[in-house]
Amino acid sequence: MRTEILAVDREKPGEGPIRRAAGIIRGGGLVVFPTETVYGLGADALSPEAVRKIFQAKGRPADNPLIVHVEDKKAAALVGQLDERSRRLMDLFWPGPLTLVVRAAGGIPKEVTGGLDTVAVRMPAHPVAIALIRSSGVPIAAPSANRSGRPSPTTAGAVLEDLKGRVELILDAGPTAVGVESTVLDVTGDHPVLLRPGGVSLEDLDEAVGPVLLPTGSEGEGRSPGTRYRHYAPSLPVILVEAGKARAEGSHLPGQRARVAYVGMSPPPAGVMAAACFASVEEYAKGLFSALRELERSGAEVILAELPVGEGVGLAVRDRLARAASGAEGPLDHWP
Ligand code: TXA
Ligand code: MG
Repeated sequence: MRTEILAVDREKPGEGPIRRAAGIIRGGGLVVFPTETVYGLGADALSPEAVRKIFQAKGRPADNPLIVHVEDKKAAALVGQLDERSRRLMDLFWPGPLTLVVRAAGGIPKEVTGGLDTVAVRMPAHPVAIALIRSSGVPIAAPSANRSGRPSPTTAGAVLEDLKGRVELILDAGPTAVGVESTVLDVTGDHPVLLRPGGVSLEDLDEAVGPVLLPTGSEGEGRSPGTRYRHYAPSLPVILVEAGKARAEGSHLPGQRARVAYVGMSPPPAGVMAAACFASVEEYAKGLFSALRELERSGAEVILAELPVGEGVGLAVRDRLARAASGAEGPLDHWP
């Protein structure tokens, strides 16, 4: 299959490209589209055959459920059962990087939910994504548009690296704004549970509908199937250091390893052969995944990664780095 890339303007995508893409979705095909977090690999969420193609293209285990993307709150009510608390969260944070796990409505294929009785739903804050969903006339199921186990793509170039020849069309609206994926919040129980930290902060959710609980051990695993699998992994080993400790750590690294690359907010330690440095934690989130892909290509043997403080979007950056560093499949044994 030939993969076509269509450049679109974020604010004014134009009818032609959107109609093309919507035609592919309606015909049961796959389209990669931008969101404010990362690029998504989309298919008609109401078509089991179309959704199965997503799993094939990504090499994703079939029991890891997908997020259903909707154009507005009204459409969300057709996908899942909404209560007062979920409506309040939608009013406060939609459109935006908050995914809500709610009881699934009838008619959502088991291919989407991984056989669970819940469904993940979100309204992205990106005019191209909204225009595509609207024009398609169906909700769009979409995971991040990477091969399973690779860092999520924040540019069309990163999508091509992973999915060239596996998808018909990529809508390219430039680099995404948030850079890490949406926050996933389970609102099916008495208290909301944070299944994945992301673009909306734990502090903001706590203030809105707190207390928000963190998943623990087997409970977390059962609730969020995605955490069972290795994620966000670059092809090099990643060594984590706490904020401000990179220089000390780096100073003895070159003795052990010849070629070290660095990503973080502090200035790079002496002797590293490639570095990506960010001025704020928001910039770190935005640039993390493309930095990991770039440092992989630098010829380094190991990536030294500085963990930011776990506040705001910093919690999501810590989570993704911890997953990149844990070579093993399986849940993290502690919250980073
Ligand atoms: O920012 C994002 O969320 C991006 C863009 C494209 O929207 N999408 C994304 O999708 O990151 P994906 O498939 O890579 O991650 C979805 C996460 C997985 O960890 C999955 O296990 C979890 O959401 N999830 C989906 N449905 C669920 C459900 N019913 N219960 C619990 N977790 C669920
Ligand atoms: Mg993903």
